[in-house]
This record gives sequence, structure tokens and C-alpha cells, in this order.
Amino acid sequence: MNILVTGASGRIGSYVLGRFADECNAVGVDLKPCPIKDLKDLVVQGDLRNYEFVREIVRGVDVVIHLAAQVSVENSWNDPVYDAENNVIATINLLKACSDYGTDRFVYISSAAVYGNPKYVPIDEEHPKSPISPYGVSKLAGEYYCRVFSDRIHTVIVRPFNVFSARMDPNNPYSGVIAKFISIVKRKLLPVIYGDGKQTRDFVHIRDVVDFVEIALKRGENGETYNVGTGKEISILELAEIIMDIAGINGKPVFDKSRPGDIRRSCADISKAKKLGFEPKTDLRRDLEEIFEQID
Ligand SMILES: NC(=O)c1ccc[n+]([C@@H]2O[C@H](COP(=O)([O-])OP(=O)(O)OC[C@H]3O[C@@H](n4cnc5c(N)ncnc54)[C@H](O)[C@@H]3O)[C@@H](O)[C@H]2O)c1
Repeated sequence: MNILVTGASGRIGSYVLGRFADECNAVGVDLKPCPIKDLKDLVVQGDLRNYEFVREIVRGVDVVIHLAAQVSVENSWNDPVYDAENNVIATINLLKACSDYGTDRFVYISSAAVYGNPKYVPIDEEHPKSPISPYGVSKLAGEYYCRVFSDRIHTVIVRPFNVFSARMDPNNPYSGVIAKFISIVKRKLLPVIYGDGKQTRDFVHIRDVVDFVEIALKRGENGETYNVGTGKEISILELAEIIMDIAGINGKPVFDKSRPGDIRRSCADISKAKKLGFEPKTDLRRDLEEIFEQID
């Protein structure tokens, strides 16, 4: 099977490419070179906004796993056109080329950002979509394009919640808080929490996300959307306490004023993913201990 992973130099895409690199004929594409030594020769550099380039790389491919995106919420406000070009136009280019060439399957990695401020938790796939940033809008637009193209190509949509791994960026809106807390406690300083710390998130380890991408690829139904998370929520205060405990730091985190747009609670309803056989194995304490060693 020939697999193309877009965004393969990114934090999630590099793990996805790593999973398929051994078993399949997998290649990646990204604007940037891949920082992972074992994968760098598998990643072609190019821009998915360019339709001619997209046609070239999609030819002969059986499956596309589309992760490439502009992922910064802040940048999406600063330059919403750039955000839309990378998240919407690039997705349309891929869908069009895939449907022209008869690609078997298309897996689109969307985001929990499409839900906006939750009206209820846990959030199931039918929850109203009400994005609160241009980034959330562009990810949702990508989903709608996938839906209409599902008449021509088998398309599955995956909505990850807060993905964490050793390759996290402290500025990542989803799980940057973990990288920030770890790097600060490693310098024997106290983590800073914005607001009262009672805001919750569903942190899912990259292993589970990659497992689910594989399940979605093999068993995801055409035109369907699946949340991927753990189904458990943890407060930012609890997260800070666990990380301080791992670092052997006593004391309390520092509280600062809350940030505008910070969602109060977030937690995935993963019943639909479970029906496909997904069983998340994230163990926050254990996984944070492992990652702690790998983050500076
Ligand atoms: N990190 C999370 O917790 C999370 C949660 C939900 C959804 N997602 C989604 O997962 C995907 C991957 O996110 P990530 O955290 O790995 O981000 P990332 O920024 O690390 O990776 C995205 C990659 O896409 C590439 N890219 C962007 N525009 C491109 C273009 N026009 N042509 C070619 N490559 C391009 C970037 O260079 C980057 O390497 C994104 O679609 C994001 O919306 C991430």
C-alpha cells in the first residue's frame, strides 16, 4: 500500500509517518524538512497550496493521511488568509487530486477546535460546531469539503483533542502547557496558571492518536467523523501538581489573570471511536514521567 502523510515533519505527522514507514510504502510531504533523522529521507519538501505539486505527489498513492496545517490560533488571527490557504485551499487541492486519480482513502485530521466553547461535556461528534477562531473555522471548512468529496472518495474525519508527546512545542495551543510546565519546573521555578486552574482538558498521548489514525484508515466509515481523546478530563491545576510532583518541587503554582478565549471544560466522548475498536492507553502520570526526561 502506498501512503502519503502530509505535515510529516510536524509534531503529529512525524509519528504517523513513523508508524507506517516500516510496513507500507510510506512517504511524507511538508513545507519543512523532517527533523527526525530516520524519517528525513522519506519526506518530500513542497507546498500543498500549489495544485500542480499536489497532483504530482498524489499520483499512484492509495491512501492520504492529511495532517498538514497552519496550527497556531494566534497566527490565524494575525493572518487569516494564510491560515485559510494552508488549511482550506491545501485540503481542497488534495481532495481534488485524490478524486481525479481514484485514491482509495483519505483521512483528514481535523481538530476539537471546531466545537468552540462546549455547551456540554463530554463532547460527542454531534455537538454544535461553533469555532471561536479563524483556525477553528478553517479546520471545519476542511471537514465540510471532505464530506462533499465523500461522494467520490472514501473520506474519514478525525478530531483529536489535546495531543501530547515528547515532540511538543511550548507554543502549541493544545498541549503547549505541558511542555511549558515541564521546562519551567526543570529550572526549579513554579508553573504559572492563567485563571483559577479549574479549566479542564482531555490530554491524549500521541501513541493513542496514531493507533486511532490506523483504525480510522482501516475501519472508519465513509463520510464519518470520530473524536479521539481519552474520555477523561483533568484540570490544569491537577496537571501542574503532577508535573511539580514528578520534578520533586514543593509549593504551589503561581496564579495569573485568565486569558480571553480560554475554554472552561473540554473532554471528548469517544464512544464512536470505541465502536471501531479504539481503547486509549494514555496514563497521564506515567506518560508525563516518560516525557519529562525528553523535554528540555
Ligand atoms: N497538536 C494537537 O494537539 C492537535 C489537536 C487537534 C488537531 N491537530 C491537528 O493535527 C495536525 C498536525 O498538528 P501538529 O500539532 O503536528 O502541527 P505541526 O505544526 O507540528 O505540523 C503541521 C505541519 O504541516 C506543515 N504544513 C503547513 N502548511 C503546509 C503546506 N501548505 N504544505 C505542506 N506542509 C504544510 C507544517 O510545515 C508542519 O510541519 C493539524 O492538522 C492540526 O490541526 C493537532
